[in-house]
Amino acid sequence: MLNVIIGTQWGDEGKGKITDFYAKKADVVVRFQGGNNAGHTVIVGEKVYKFHIIPSGSVEEKILILGNGVVVDPKILLEEIEALENEGKTVSLYISERANVIMPYHKIEDEIYEELKGNLKAGTTKRGIGPCYADKIARFGIRFADLIDDEVFREKLSIILPMKNKIFKTFGKDPLDYNQVHEEYFKYGKIFKEYVADTSLLLNKFLNEGKNVLMEGAQGTHLDIDHGIYPYTTSSHTVAGGASIGAGIPPQKIGKILGVVKAYTSRVGTGPVPTELKDKTGEHLRERGKEYGTTTGRPRRCGWLDLVMVKYTHRINGLTGIALTKLDVLCELEKVKAATAYEYNGKKIEEFPANMKVLSKCKPVYKEFEGWGEFDKEKIKKEGYKGLPEQARKYVGFISSFIGVPISLVSYGPKRSETILLEELF
Ligand code: GDP
Ligand code: IMO
Ligand code: MG
Repeated sequence: MLNVIIGTQWGDEGKGKITDFYAKKADVVVRFQGGNNAGHTVIVGEKVYKFHIIPSGSVEEKILILGNGVVVDPKILLEEIEALENEGKTVSLYISERANVIMPYHKIEDEIYEELKGNLKAGTTKRGIGPCYADKIARFGIRFADLIDDEVFREKLSIILPMKNKIFKTFGKDPLDYNQVHEEYFKYGKIFKEYVADTSLLLNKFLNEGKNVLMEGAQGTHLDIDHGIYPYTTSSHTVAGGASIGAGIPPQKIGKILGVVKAYTSRVGTGPVPTELKDKTGEHLRERGKEYGTTTGRPRRCGWLDLVMVKYTHRINGLTGIALTKLDVLCELEKVKAATAYEYNGKKIEEFPANMKVLSKCKPVYKEFEGWGEFDKEKIKKEGYKGLPEQARKYVGFISSFIGVPISLVSYGPKRSETILLEELF
């Protein structure tokens, strides 16, 4: 069976925690898109793991796959593997021979374009993600198959690097030295040779053997290159369909699609956020929710839950379940709100607009809920969902009925134990 976990908002919904939680019953955990722009947190006891490129199933020592849709910075990957191994973890990792390599020039290009893009700037993580995907689409990316074959790697680098150096000259940046780049990446090629495989073949074989495969999405639907708030998006397909393309598995093999919904909104980077709160409540959400970027440390912009966005997410992804996270962060508030529509030019609109000018003028129409005070965690542990205060259950129930998707899990703290499981994934 193959199930997919995706972010339904702007990323940082808690996908790392949810992937780790469901990974227990999986045999294989796969990243199918994005790169080390992701920052996925898994907390086990006192130990806090922050994964950028390695799948979160690594804590449970599952078979790990980086699919063809991923872009990989080999230096970061190596650091993450070493950190896990130093802790005594076994890392059984396969990297798709078709996955693209993030090269040093991609990171420089990311800086250059962000500086020049003015209002079109997405506030990227500057990890070279966009330029790496751009080269892939323009067909001069370096793939893992190339990296591990020095003859091919040398030939490609000798064509690509002079092109990049011409760009750098235009922008007043120092050129990169061929030998230096080759020496460093030749070393990565040697190290990763044993990890590189036809991961689509492997995955399809695992599925035929009856193994449980969990696909770990990165970012969120509203950061998707096509379906997100373009141009304030990332450069990959963060939606469930991306799992098929990014891992080389037929779409009909996808079973459940679990959408991770944070009980409020957060956004790192630029672009319109209709429910953003620039007041004390927004600050409260940021502080109590510890909303600072896992990758860049940037403060996240916070606001009320936007159900117009999540409803759109369901339309694109066909969610079969919702994992609702960070419900505890709303506990101290007297009133809790969720947007159910927007008002634009005096008219009520219920569908998420594609036009940025329209979106930036949309005012949320809110449904208001009474607050519920602090959770009695012992009661929740004993009674499960029924142990939540009635007002909190009203909020959760409304989300489920508004979107039309059942709640599979409620998370009320960062730890594994702070989880109410309503539906198993496998
Ligand atoms: P991801 O990118 O979707 O994996 O999410 P991040 O790891 O970037 O951000 C989620 C943050 O919220 C992490 O610090 C998690 O440890 C934390 N977290 C996850 N679930 C909960 C929850 O239910 N309550 C609280 N308070 N924190 C949570
Ligand atoms: P996880 O997987 C939140 C945002 C950046 C920027 C835009 C483009 O942890 O949820 P990029 O570096 O990808 O070119 O940046 O996307 N962004 C994220 N925001 N969580 C993430 O990942 C993100 N990955 C990228 O802030 O606005
Ligand atoms: Mg994150």
